[in-house]
Amino acid sequence: MPSYTVKTFGCQMNVHDSERIDETLREAGYAPATDPDSADLIVINTCSVREKAEQKLRSLVGTLADVKAARPETVIAVAGCLAQQEGHKLLSRMKQIDIVLGPDNIVELPRLVEEVQGGAPPIVRTVFDVDEPVFLRARPDPRHHVAPTAFVTVMKGCDERCSFCIVPHTRGPERYRPSSEVVEEIRTLALAGVREVTLLGQTVNSYRDPEHALAPAPSASSSDPDESEFAALLRRISQAVPDLSRLRYTSPHPRHVTPSLVAAHRDLDVLARHVHLPVQSGSNRVLKRMIRRYTREEYVERAERLRSARPGLTLSTDIIVGFCGETDEDFQETLDLVRAVGFAGLFGFKYSRRPYTPAQKLGDDVPETTKSQRLTALFALAEELQSDKLKALVGSTEHVLVEGESKAGSGKVTGRTARNEIVHIGDPDGASLVGEIVEVEIVGSFKHSLLGAITPRYEATRRSGSPRRASRRVLPLLAADS
Ligand code: 5AD
Repeated sequence: MPSYTVKTFGCQMNVHDSERIDETLREAGYAPATDPDSADLIVINTCSVREKAEQKLRSLVGTLADVKAARPETVIAVAGCLAQQEGHKLLSRMKQIDIVLGPDNIVELPRLVEEVQGGAPPIVRTVFDVDEPVFLRARPDPRHHVAPTAFVTVMKGCDERCSFCIVPHTRGPERYRPSSEVVEEIRTLALAGVREVTLLGQTVNSYRDPEHALAPAPSASSSDPDESEFAALLRRISQAVPDLSRLRYTSPHPRHVTPSLVAAHRDLDVLARHVHLPVQSGSNRVLKRMIRRYTREEYVERAERLRSARPGLTLSTDIIVGFCGETDEDFQETLDLVRAVGFAGLFGFKYSRRPYTPAQKLGDDVPETTKSQRLTALFALAEELQSDKLKALVGSTEHVLVEGESKAGSGKVTGRTARNEIVHIGDPDGASLVGEIVEVEIVGSFKHSLLGAITPRYEATRRSGSPRRASRRVLPLLAADS
């Protein structure tokens, strides 16, 4: 049996694509390599959102030169956004590469490998499936352990034109998946034991149902140009898959945080009490240059509406520092916004000029040292906010979906609350808790996570049998109480 290994860079979409690459290869008769360096096929799933990505690929392919020299029959495939972006150019720059594969061409990989093994010259397949979009579905293998969390793609591509962003170029125009397929996939996953699903899309909340099968969300407005059918999709999933414990989505665009989406957070218990809502900057001047199509005030208002719809809802965000023309005042406005909104988590990036983006015309005029200083200041503030929030949770009772062992041999398991805080739990029989929603008391806080102890109440139900069989959305012990 030929062996393979997949190395993944970048976002959740890439992680999801790598899982589909795994499944495609297994179905074609490949087995995961025990030693990645001796695999017959090496797939590198790349990211191109920032410049570092290409440097990383270069150094990785460089190390593979030795592998290729020792075993010339090893096939090296480069997949993902950088593959889509650079196409043939990658082949001329890196001679070790045999296949360049775009994100919409994953299913073709086994055939392309065969062609290369049959003596064909290096191949580039980077064709968008615009006319008949294909959404590869997860096929959980019952012989393998099923993870308690899964990603489900609902749309791909992006019709926004944020001036810093290469994604419209690497992922193509927006294409949406039929709602019946989305629901069916989530149902299958829940049946296989998945407790939490994260809906994926570049601007996930611009979703529209190509089969027009969704009942409009009660509060949807037909006159709002930003209205999508995303809230209707959330309602459909909640109703059709009652066994699902938690539903998340990433990443929404603030533009489509419409009253119907806010109402979904108010009405649907299955929705996690956390939204990752990228803001990018707190300065209206910069937002305009970024072509984000909302103002700081609109963002704050939408964030507030989400929070008042679901008490306790937390927000996290993405921020770019040092975008073209960003002044100290602009950056101060970003810091002010971060404090005002009180983000529970934050990903910060130094602006990195990308090819094929509108901002190329604007130049890249903030010095590297200034970018670094701003990023340091941003992280310091984010950490202060996060650790204050985590500290305030000590003493509270939380429900944690246990996802796996914290670190091999640590004797702890790790999971997340519905608000997305990471909780470590020490338990002599932790492995049996994976996939369960457990009740813990928060007994300590760290910089980025919490320490929880199983409550005596949960311990009692645990000893009297498995709580997960009764109800997945609400713990039986809580249902009995209310
Ligand atoms: N430079 C820096 N950060 C970027 N991002 C996207 N494009 C760039 C770029 N050119 C960040 C944004 C986005 C996240 C996924 O990556 O913050 O939300």
